[in-house]
Amino acid sequence: MQTEIVGKPVPRKEGRSKVTGAARYVDDLSMPGMLYGATVRSPVARGRIRAVTFGEGIPWDEFVVVTAKDIPGENAVALILLDQPYLADGFVNHAEEPVLLLAHEDKHLLERARRAVTVDIEPLPAVFTLEESLAGKEIVWGEDNVFKTYLVDKGDVDEVWAQPDLLIVEGEYSTGAQEQLYIETNGVIAVANAAEGVTVWGSMQCPYYVHKALLKLFALPPERVRVVQCETGGGFGGKEEYPSMIGGHAALLSWKAGGRPVKIIYDRAEDMVATTKRHPSLTRHRTAVTREGKLVAMDIEFVVDGGAYATLSAVVLSRGTIHAAGPYTCPNVRVRSRAVATNVPPHGAFRGFGAPQSIFALERQLDKVAGAVGLSPAEFRRRNFIREGETTATGQVIREPVDMAGLLDRAFELTDYEAKRERFARENAENNSTQKRGIGFASFMHGAGFTGSGEDYLKSIVGAEADAEGRVRVLAASTEIGQGTNTIFAQIASNALGLDYDLVEMAQPDTGNVPDSGPTVASRTCMIVGKLVESAAVGLRQTLQGAGLLTEEYTQDGWREACRQYVERYGALKSFSQYKPPPGVHWDDEKYQGDAYGAYAWAVYVAEVTVDTLTYETRVDDFVAVQEVGKVVHPILAAGQIEGGVAQAIGFTLYENVVWQDGRMINNQMTNYVMPTSADLPPIRVHFEEQPYQYGPAGGAKGIGELPMDGGAPAILNAIEQATGVRFTHVPLMPEALMRGLNENR
Ligand code: MOS
Repeated sequence: MQTEIVGKPVPRKEGRSKVTGAARYVDDLSMPGMLYGATVRSPVARGRIRAVTFGEGIPWDEFVVVTAKDIPGENAVALILLDQPYLADGFVNHAEEPVLLLAHEDKHLLERARRAVTVDIEPLPAVFTLEESLAGKEIVWGEDNVFKTYLVDKGDVDEVWAQPDLLIVEGEYSTGAQEQLYIETNGVIAVANAAEGVTVWGSMQCPYYVHKALLKLFALPPERVRVVQCETGGGFGGKEEYPSMIGGHAALLSWKAGGRPVKIIYDRAEDMVATTKRHPSLTRHRTAVTREGKLVAMDIEFVVDGGAYATLSAVVLSRGTIHAAGPYTCPNVRVRSRAVATNVPPHGAFRGFGAPQSIFALERQLDKVAGAVGLSPAEFRRRNFIREGETTATGQVIREPVDMAGLLDRAFELTDYEAKRERFARENAENNSTQKRGIGFASFMHGAGFTGSGEDYLKSIVGAEADAEGRVRVLAASTEIGQGTNTIFAQIASNALGLDYDLVEMAQPDTGNVPDSGPTVASRTCMIVGKLVESAAVGLRQTLQGAGLLTEEYTQDGWREACRQYVERYGALKSFSQYKPPPGVHWDDEKYQGDAYGAYAWAVYVAEVTVDTLTYETRVDDFVAVQEVGKVVHPILAAGQIEGGVAQAIGFTLYENVVWQDGRMINNQMTNYVMPTSADLPPIRVHFEEQPYQYGPAGGAKGIGELPMDGGAPAILNAIEQATGVRFTHVPLMPEALMRGLNENR
């Protein structure tokens, strides 16, 4: 039976409730006796806490006050390492580090109280940039400020430099921090006491991450902690790790308040100043090519600024490292990478997770190399694109059909790239207009799922259950954060069972009710967890057929009847499915070699820009995104993912500038941290090539969420280079930097 639901733009499951306002976000929830919680934070970047004083005029005896001393379990946010405290204990390592928590039922008095607390700190020298950290200006973490290093080593790079007749091209590139700017800020409600354990409701991507962190914080067994995801207004990585922090804070306050519910909702300023951002990065390239434009060696050094604690930096670094050499064939590749510590709030997950940083560097560098060889950027790429049977930097043999040249052709056709490239070059040289035009592109790939053996370690589980009416519920911890999880999972299950879409629903992600499907990150939801949804759904059918209640071919009525009989005779009908790697996938964690990802999405993005050489404004006039992402499950949601990711990439490139002062973001408002609005964005034209992935769900879907963040920055700067003749190497490229660059060039 085939319902042909895959590839159809069915209405999104929670669309109606969001549009009508019926959807309940955490700040819509209220509980009897509820208190509001607030966080007192460090005023300095690094130092020793001398004293905390409570100011005059506040009825302090009405307040719940929590310090590090009140923590029942371990004072560490359990993620990878246990170096980050929930509350500073004698020492602070970054500005805005949480020191003390307050709760009160009057949130206005609470805010006055928060301001009346003074944290007196003896400041110590701090490091604020990755350059200072690398230089060892001050050791602020471990023995050498280094959280993690990787080495990817293919062939023998050092042996190449001495070879005759090669061109060697060097370049250095850097990227700034970026705020995720989800519409809904971080927020939670917690109820915690010794009798009932700990329950946290909140806005989050990964309920089981919060669950794991709370176990450690309260020293409780798993069944005494419950985490429930509420409707969530965007994540983009910014709600991958931080909910463990704010969830723990609310729970600590509730615990001290004897179990009264405590709500903490950050306002925008607090969310921007205190929570995670994209890792700033620095990449150095040394590339060797033949005179014919064949890549011979790529020597890449990649550094990210992790901020004050280890958090997810090792994993971000890993993805950035593996993507650093891109979709090209090169016999000798070395990527040396480091995540280093600084005294700024820890940088964290943000769509792309390290890859946008290293891909930006690579795609700028390759335009430079092309110029050095005397080839067009496109011709140079064509001579080096990876093909089926060839190996990536980690030695992964590409076993699926890949056609980067075809994607490039398609993108160029859609933009009339070659003709425009020629026309802009002519016009920029000939006329005296202050408006300079340019067109540029980037070609890239993005791996779906956890890196290397990550998915093996996760061992994700998804369940499906059917009731006596034949309604199917998917039990997964994957969260709907605006990207479409609910909808595509329902499509995948209904497709697998040949049932109406309306007959399938998603259980609320609640650790008390759904198995651990792993986190909602890493472009893994559709491809990895979606495949488990499919198997779990198929498991229901097999159970019914095994019980002799359902024939090979069946109608929806037949399905319902079978479910009715099954439930009557045997009780609940449930099926679970657990992740197993596709055959032939191998990864060596020591050597950092092998199959880094089960599958990649492939893409070519083209940007067309106008640079005003009088006002130093840059406008992206047109943007075309061509990608191969396997089977497209839901064309509107998929295109929406691409459009949104490109919009964020345009922000990353031209608008979003985090201004730091002594380790603190000082433009932490949406008035002075400027993100592009719809008025600033070009038409974003999205085109999918469909090449079904053998092990993907719904006839071969791959991951899609992070990919569109990768290509925008290099494509735009490549276009700006055509417009201005200046080789910019840093994003965000603010008008001031554009002015400096143009003036130096005159
Ligand atoms: Mo994501 S940036 O893998 O939450």
